[in-house]
Amino acid sequence: MSPDRVAVIGLGFVGLTSAAVFADLGAKVYGVNRNLQKNKAIQMGKPGFFEPNLTSLLKKVLKKGSLTATTDLALAVKKSSIIFICVNTPSSESGAIDLSYVRDVALDIGKAVKPSDGYKVIVVKSTVVPGTTEKVVRPILAKASGKKSRKDLGVAANPEFLREGSAVYDSYHPDRIVIGGGDSKATSFLERFYNNMYPKNTPPIIKASTATGEMIKYASNAFLATKISYINTLANIATRIQGVDIEVVANAMGLDHRIGKLFLKAGPGYGGSCFPKDVKALIGFGRDIGYRAKVLESVDHLNERQPCEVIRLAQNIVGPINNKHFSILGLAFKKDTDDIRSAVSVKIIENLLSEGAKVTVYDPLAMNNVRDKFGSKIKYGDTPQKCLKDSDCCLVLTEWNIFRKLKPRDFIKHMKNPVVVDARRIFNPEEFIGKMRFSAIGLGLTSDAEEEERRTQNETWEKPALAVNAIVKTDEDELVIVKRSNHPFQGYWSLPGGFVECGETVEQSLKREVKEETGLKTNPGRIVGVYSDPKRNPEKHVISVLMEAELVSGALRKKSREISDVKTVSKKSLPKKMAFDHLKMLKDYLEN
Ligand code: UGA
Repeated sequence: MSPDRVAVIGLGFVGLTSAAVFADLGAKVYGVNRNLQKNKAIQMGKPGFFEPNLTSLLKKVLKKGSLTATTDLALAVKKSSIIFICVNTPSSESGAIDLSYVRDVALDIGKAVKPSDGYKVIVVKSTVVPGTTEKVVRPILAKASGKKSRKDLGVAANPEFLREGSAVYDSYHPDRIVIGGGDSKATSFLERFYNNMYPKNTPPIIKASTATGEMIKYASNAFLATKISYINTLANIATRIQGVDIEVVANAMGLDHRIGKLFLKAGPGYGGSCFPKDVKALIGFGRDIGYRAKVLESVDHLNERQPCEVIRLAQNIVGPINNKHFSILGLAFKKDTDDIRSAVSVKIIENLLSEGAKVTVYDPLAMNNVRDKFGSKIKYGDTPQKCLKDSDCCLVLTEWNIFRKLKPRDFIKHMKNPVVVDARRIFNPEEFIGKMRFSAIGLGLTSDAEEEERRTQNETWEKPALAVNAIVKTDEDELVIVKRSNHPFQGYWSLPGGFVECGETVEQSLKREVKEETGLKTNPGRIVGVYSDPKRNPEKHVISVLMEAELVSGALRKKSREISDVKTVSKKSLPKKMAFDHLKMLKDYLEN
């Protein structure tokens, strides 16, 4: 059979774009999706999500008859020689990759392959951790199809690098094509397919082992995420000091060819369906094989906290959030998409609402998705101007071009108190400073007075504040003492420094830290005891925590009977002198 008859299983953003582009480049494509309604819409040229140029392309290939959307996986497999698996690989609760859709589809494909069928290659395009294609997909296919020999059934990994918002362009102009395959028959077959698809400007084709191919995808996404968290780290330093502008820093850095200017745009943190999930999956994968990917843990941690930086900048100007009216410009995780998966806007709206703020939002494309999520809890403006109306603070969270046209006078005219926090650096600060209160990610403080003001305001939560030790209860009802590596308080336990992050209570912070340190896959449970010894260090005092939790991860192996060392305190015996907010929080805790 010709290698140009292909099935694409899963018609999400990667699957549908790939299917349409292959269909345009000369392949006969069967797109498979379980949802009949969705297929009907696709057959009418409606992708079901926004992606520039996809609708017109879809209409073109449907008219040409080179793409058919169907629910009949068996038919698509029968008719095709290459079957691309493009289903989701979401994060499980622990952050590790959830391969259930890949497994299910592999089983269905295996059952659909008949002994009489000619040679076929099953290609995993979904993002999967190294080893999945050979160790999970191949055995399922071989068992279900009865075709055990590599001569009869090929398997390969062929990750996808297209970006939302420019997926169609990226598919016509890939930087490289990665083919990971354990047998040369399968890789050559796939290489021939791509040579046919891109006859003139064939992109570099990297042939590698299957696991290497799978790893390249994670390596690329995690590296880009690292660049973003790196520049955001510097941006967060910049906003705490005078006179540094991260935009200028990033531009100058980017001119160094070894660094490159792309993905050095500081912002509210990366979102979307890929980076957050893939970084977490790689961390989880590392843990499962006994390696702790600390760099990536930091990348992820920084990103989880980055929305708080936006709120911090707002708080610096408007003070307590409670009862303030926020207008949010930009909801999609980036421009040119309606996607709000892991979007910073969602986290920020949730945080603002929980703090008692009023929120009005606007986005050129993502309003319906946000409406589905928040309903009547927030208000919706039909235009940026209506969104700004009577608000106390505007947060710019997505870099849509139409927002760039807004001038200080627009904010002054419509807002109750004109305050802008530019989390995407779309505005020229010089145009705004002096006309209204203005703050931006990575934009340094502008005067000594501002620096002094910030220092006083931030004192309540920004300083290193606590150290955590924990005891968790295992499945076997044993107690495990969590000892941590640094020794800032020699002679006690091995206690690290810790941070109460923006927006957290001490209790939330303790749970987060223990989870991060140990890799616990379930949430640590109830805190049943705390101890603080202010004599050791009144500021960075020590809190030992007794927690109840299930132990699932392999990270906590050490067992100990040091339970007798844990101090528990009653309200009456709370130490008299403790650093600022802790005493109150501990009292609150003990009272509840
Ligand atoms: C990403 C990769 O760029 C693609 O190569 C990959 O194929 C895709 O994931 C995937 O795994 O399917 P995507 O998530 O669509 O693509 O979007 P990006 O353009 O990479 O942006 C991701 C996030 O990073 C966005 O929230 C964006 O605003 C943020 N970002 C990006 C920054 O904050 N700063 C930057 O400099 C660049």
